[in-house]
Amino acid sequence: MVEVFAPRNIIVTGGCGFIGSNFVRYVVANHPGTHVTVLDKLTYAGNRENIAGLPRDRVELVVGDICDADLLDKIVPGHDAIVHYAAESHNDNSIADPEPFVRTNVEGTYRLLEAARRYDVRYHHISTDEVYGDLALDDPARFTEETPYRPSSPYSSTKAASDLLVRAWHRTYGVRATISNCSNNYGPYQHVEKFIPRQITNILTGVRPKLYGDGLNVRDWIHTDDHSSAVWTILTRGRIGETYLIGADGERNNLTVLRDILEMMGRNPDDFDWVRDRPGHDRRYAIDSTKLRTELGWTPGHTDFREGLRRTIAWYSENRQWWEKAKEATEARYEAQGR
Ligand code: NAD
Ligand code: DAU
Repeated sequence: MVEVFAPRNIIVTGGCGFIGSNFVRYVVANHPGTHVTVLDKLTYAGNRENIAGLPRDRVELVVGDICDADLLDKIVPGHDAIVHYAAESHNDNSIADPEPFVRTNVEGTYRLLEAARRYDVRYHHISTDEVYGDLALDDPARFTEETPYRPSSPYSSTKAASDLLVRAWHRTYGVRATISNCSNNYGPYQHVEKFIPRQITNILTGVRPKLYGDGLNVRDWIHTDDHSSAVWTILTRGRIGETYLIGADGERNNLTVLRDILEMMGRNPDDFDWVRDRPGHDRRYAIDSTKLRTELGWTPGHTDFREGLRRTIAWYSENRQWWEKAKEATEARYEAQGR
C-alpha cells in the first residue's frame, strides 16, 4: 500500500519562477491544509508578481539565496518539507556564463540537502530530462528511470550533479528524498527567453521568430499544471529514495511548434528567421512516465497540446505588462550570441 505524507508547512525554493510559482498556486488552490514559504532570490527570472494576490495566511515570501546556510538555519526549522525548484534554468545562458549555474544548481542543492539533514525535513528535488543527454530522431527509445546520465550542456551537467548529490545524501545520511525529472514545460508565466514565449512575444512586438539549426530538434512538451500535479503526487505518495520521470507524451519538433504558433497568430508559415544553432544542441528528448502512472496513478490533465498553446498565446497577448520589461534585455542577450 502507498504511504501518504500530508505536508502542513512546506518551503518551495524558486517559487517566484515559472514552474515553482505554478506549484505554489496549485497548492493554494487544491490543498487548503498546507502553508507555503517561498524562498526565492528574485534573479532576472524571478518575479514576485507570479505569486501576487495569493492569501497571506497561506503563502509567505522570503527573498534570499539558497546558498545562504545561515538563512536556511533560520527558516527551515518548523517546516516539514522542502520542494526545491530554484535553479539557473536556461541552456543558452549556461553556455554564455556557466558560473552561476555551478553555484546555484550544485552548491545551492548541497546547502538545502544539508539543511534537510540537520532538521530532518522531507526533501523533493525538481530536475530535468536533460540529465539523460539526447536521443536520435529515429531511435524508438524513450528515457526511463534506468537511463544512464549523459548530460550535454553546462546547465544539464549541473542539474545532473545536483541529482547525484540528492542520491548520495539519501543513501549516506538517510535524508528522506525523492527526485523527479520532467520534460519541457509550457504555459503562462514562462520567461520570454524560452522557446515558446520568445516566439509569441516576438510576433506580438513585430519581430520575426528565430529557429535554431535545422528546426528538427524534438522536445517532449508538458503543460506546467501537469508538472505541478505530478510533483504533489510524488511528494505525498512517492517512495523515499526513488526517482520518477514526468512526461505527457508530447513529442514535437521545434519547426512544427513554431508553425503552430505562426498559424494561430495569423502569420505565414515561413515568417521566421533561421539562426545559428546552439552549441552542443540536444537532438531529441522523450520521456516514458510509466512508473509514475502505474505506481502512483498520475495522469496529465492537458492532453491537447494545440489547445494549451492557443491558451498560452492568449495569456501573453493579454498580459503584456508582465513580459514587456524583460523582453528588451532578453533580446539584447540573444543579439550578443548571434541568435
Ligand atoms: P525559472 O528560471 O523560471 O525560475 C527559477 C527561479 O529560481 C526564479 O524565481 C529565480 O529567482 C530563483 N532562483 C535562482 N537562483 C536562486 C538562488 N540562488 N536562490 C534562490 N532562488 C533562486 O525556472 P523554471 O523554468 O521555473 O524551472 C524551475 C525548475 O524546474 C528548475 O530546477 C529547472 O531545472 C526545472 N525544470 C524546468 C523545466 C522547464 O521546461 N522549464 C523542465 C524540467 C525541469
Ligand atoms: O527538457 C527540460 C528542459 O527544457 C529544462 O530543464 C530547461 O530548464 C528548459 O529551459 C528547457 O530546455 P530547452 O533548452 O529544451 O528549452 P528552450 O526553451 O531553451 O529551447 C527549446 C528548443 O527550442 C530547443 O531545441 C532550442 C530551440 N530554440 C530555442 C529558442 C530560445 C529555438 O529554436 N529558438 C529559440 O529562440
